[in-house]
Amino acid sequence: LNNGLALTPPMGWSTWNVFHCDYNETDLMEMADMLVSSGMLSAGYKYLNIDDCWEASSRDPITGMLKYNETRFPHGMRALADYIHSKGLLFGMYTSSGEYTCQQYPGSWQHEYLDAAVFANWNIDFLKLDCCYQDNVKDRATAFISWSKALSIQNHSILYSCDSDELILKENNLEFPFLWAPEYCNMARIWFDIYDEWISTVTILDHAANIYYASQPGYWNDLDILTVGLGGQTLEEYTAQFSLWALMSSPLIAGNDIRRMSKEIGNILMNKEVIAINQDKLGRSGNMIRRAVDGSYEVWAKSIYHQNMSQFDSTHHTLRFTPPRFHAVVLLNRLNTTANITLDFKDLFGNALSPHPPYPIWTVSIRDLWLHQDLGKFNETWQASNVPGHGVRM
Ligand code: DGJ
Repeated sequence: LNNGLALTPPMGWSTWNVFHCDYNETDLMEMADMLVSSGMLSAGYKYLNIDDCWEASSRDPITGMLKYNETRFPHGMRALADYIHSKGLLFGMYTSSGEYTCQQYPGSWQHEYLDAAVFANWNIDFLKLDCCYQDNVKDRATAFISWSKALSIQNHSILYSCDSDELILKENNLEFPFLWAPEYCNMARIWFDIYDEWISTVTILDHAANIYYASQPGYWNDLDILTVGLGGQTLEEYTAQFSLWALMSSPLIAGNDIRRMSKEIGNILMNKEVIAINQDKLGRSGNMIRRAVDGSYEVWAKSIYHQNMSQFDSTHHTLRFTPPRFHAVVLLNRLNTTANITLDFKDLFGNALSPHPPYPIWTVSIRDLWLHQDLGKFNETWQASNVPGHGVRM
């Protein structure tokens, strides 16, 4: 979506994975404080997003406007927005395109313009549109497009996050949302809800691989809110999820309780080198470039910006584009036992410059983004030893 936002993948925190419906104003103010004091904001996490369940059980009978739950938000949304903004954060809200939200609060069907104005008045910076209670695919597409327009006419820019995942199956066409999502949304969910198990991480990743090319500045495939730190997986599994979400240029929306974040989880979510890969200004997504024949490991890679990518060629008076020289690489161990994984530099740089033997021998400098160490220069291949089960080297 060309609204000047999401030029790199959005970063923030959301209520859904850790609270579901169980949160109030105080929790969110504490979370705002913690996003700042934990260093998350400095690391780039700037949106504080409220997901489902903030709503009152019905609209205002006279004005027809959406209302917040006054018991849980005694000071109201505008006051909460002001508090969040006073911390240097941005404020995200949620509604659904259908008649109800997924948790059966009032949805926005046929109230798109009214609700967008109300949200803008509360000074929101981000809107997630869910899609429950709307099984008619045409109505849903209409609503998602109306919302895009309704947000665009407000007096300040609002990032538009689309969650129409169920359309994917209903149309029986894996790519369906991507016919329209990049044009109308700043990010869009590509699969069903994430949950705190390894199988969920790799299932979503596999779907992202099918449609990686849709991501570009202004629109990003959304692999869903991170489960890092929820407690159901190992640190290796969380490190793998974070590495892969970063490499696939997914929005990085943390979903854990920042008030109770361990040092280890903080080190994952705030690894600045990995975040820099996610936020790289070339604005590409990574993808899988090799899978072991037996499926035991994979190599995933993302091209990274470098200053000399386009150079003026004074002989030919033209701009020459050189192939990327920097790649972010994730070696993923799919097994649950330790493995050695070899990276073949031809997979990154190819033989294209020399179609006939002798092929060039690539010499590559490698840095480990989790050890924060330069490992040296290597010829032709590099072997990662002892990659943990369900783990990565990056
Ligand atoms: C379904 C969405 O996909 C989730 O991310 C979350 O927003 C829930 N609905 C809320 O009910």
